[in-house]
Amino acid sequence: MSGIVGYIGKSSAESILLDCLTHLDYRGYDSAGIAISNQEKIEIRKEIGRIEDLKTLLEMEPITGGNIGIGHTRWASHGSPTISNAHPLSDDQSQFYVVHNGIIENYRQLKNELITKGHVFCTDTDTEVIPHLLVQHDTGNFEETVRKVLPLLKGSFALAIMSKHQPDTIIGISQENPLIIGFGQNEAFLSSDISALLSYAKEIYPIKNGEIAILKANEIKVQTIEGETIKPEKRIIEWTEDDFSLQGYEHYMLKEIMEQPKAIKNTLEGRLTENGVNIPELEPFLKESFEYRKIDIVANGTSYHSGMIGKKVMETLLDIPVEVSISSEFRYEHGPLSEKNLVIVISQSGETADTLSALREAKQYGCKTIAITNKRRGNIARKADYTICTNAGPELAVPATKAYTTQITALYLLAIALTEKTKGHGLDRIPEMLKELHQLPEEVEKTLIMTQDAIDQFAQVTEDQYRLFLIGRGLDYVLALEGALKLQEVAYLHADAYAAGEMKHGTMALITPGVPVIALSTQKHLRDKTISNIKEIKARDAFVVGVTTIGDDDVSEIVDEVMYIPEVHPFLMPIIAAIPLQLLAYYAGTVRGYNVDRPRNLAKSLTVE
Ligand code: F6R
Repeated sequence: MSGIVGYIGKSSAESILLDCLTHLDYRGYDSAGIAISNQEKIEIRKEIGRIEDLKTLLEMEPITGGNIGIGHTRWASHGSPTISNAHPLSDDQSQFYVVHNGIIENYRQLKNELITKGHVFCTDTDTEVIPHLLVQHDTGNFEETVRKVLPLLKGSFALAIMSKHQPDTIIGISQENPLIIGFGQNEAFLSSDISALLSYAKEIYPIKNGEIAILKANEIKVQTIEGETIKPEKRIIEWTEDDFSLQGYEHYMLKEIMEQPKAIKNTLEGRLTENGVNIPELEPFLKESFEYRKIDIVANGTSYHSGMIGKKVMETLLDIPVEVSISSEFRYEHGPLSEKNLVIVISQSGETADTLSALREAKQYGCKTIAITNKRRGNIARKADYTICTNAGPELAVPATKAYTTQITALYLLAIALTEKTKGHGLDRIPEMLKELHQLPEEVEKTLIMTQDAIDQFAQVTEDQYRLFLIGRGLDYVLALEGALKLQEVAYLHADAYAAGEMKHGTMALITPGVPVIALSTQKHLRDKTISNIKEIKARDAFVVGVTTIGDDDVSEIVDEVMYIPEVHPFLMPIIAAIPLQLLAYYAGTVRGYNVDRPRNLAKSLTVE
């Protein structure tokens, strides 16, 4: 998974491609490269690392002009992040130049066939088969050649291709992987994401599966693979440059943490009424009879943790079992599925390949599917039967923060709608939940103000630690898992989460004097038991930081430090208590000098399985 850009027009391709790539580096930042044509020749520059490193290379080895080019920022999947594996990639005769996002699943077989035909490969990537196939099937006509090669490729991919023999053209292809055309004034753009196009185009068109986009400076054609011309339905870009700017924050992660009151408000907007919920996107579904025997929630990473919260809340309200699964597992192993299963997939990016495959799997069995996503028109939204958009605005930092709290908010809305629909056993709990949901953005705002400084100081204390434990029961246990994930990816701390009662069954052996433990105690009905577990840990001289609600002296008396948060409905506590944990990860990462927006080895949107 990576970011692709393309430019064709009258301006300097180099500066436009570099600028566009800078907006896409959340998609991968192991290496970057560009190929630029000045009509006479195509020149390539590639560098390991981020776009800044490529810019430094270009200062030392400039490209001589050119108004047409393609570019790439890579998250290494096939082949390590080396210069030779960096894109753009070409064939051994330097005829075709390709940037690629996704996976060519049958590349081994294709590569072996090409090698027997005399092709010489020099990278470890799956991508390299594409320029070689183009040479092998070259008819002398660029479009026709691409059309011959496309059916040979299996997998999900987006491609931008240039040909030495037709240097005024870029061809773009999108196969289950996003690629968007940007329409400028006598210029055309390609990008994996809208964010790169905001300064250049007002209108866009996401290329559909099976379509080929042929870009020239004065003409953009979209055709089917058979060559039939399609009139692209252009869309106006809804987001502005402001949505993508840091707005005075040092990092996107902090900006996005601070945006949560607004993001949650937007998730609730128009869906919360005085007496219930109204989710217009689900109206047809809610009108159907509800004969489901089981709900499956499927997601990855942080979205999986949101799903775990969703499961616990749904099972408290509904009379139907809910199972939550990791997409990459569910894809291959799951319990019995049929039209009696309701499958909810959760994905911020709306592109995650594992979740997309899980969704396909569920649909094959006839399950009804609902997507909870931040990308209204993403791949996952397009494939699911119904979509609830979280409306959180773009999330650019790799660590998910506002995605998490808005997904949980959307799950609450869904849980309430289903409880009302089915007259679930938790129906009488709904009025109180609704009342508190109205207050939620304000309570989140309050929590940010209450905790930010204290967490910053605590993060300084953890600077020389290399490990940390988080414990909690019930919803607090799920929260502990999410807190640990954030600390791992942002601060590179070996953070582990445990159900508080489980420590004594083995992990307690790792508790030595001074080891930091964050004890979450936000669920009143579990407080006494959690306190006993904290005492067991304190008896081994761990350094315990308690996270509890204002006025809870029982916890504050036994811990070394306490972090107070506002008390809201127990179901809503996972949102409130997520705030100090997100802030802790942020400050623990920055105090160590890490790039919290771009943690090592990661990327925002994982379009490979
Ligand atoms: C962690 C994080 C990831 C994502 C996961 C799923 O901070 O961001 O664990 O939650 O990769 O991504 P989406 O929600 O885009 O499917």
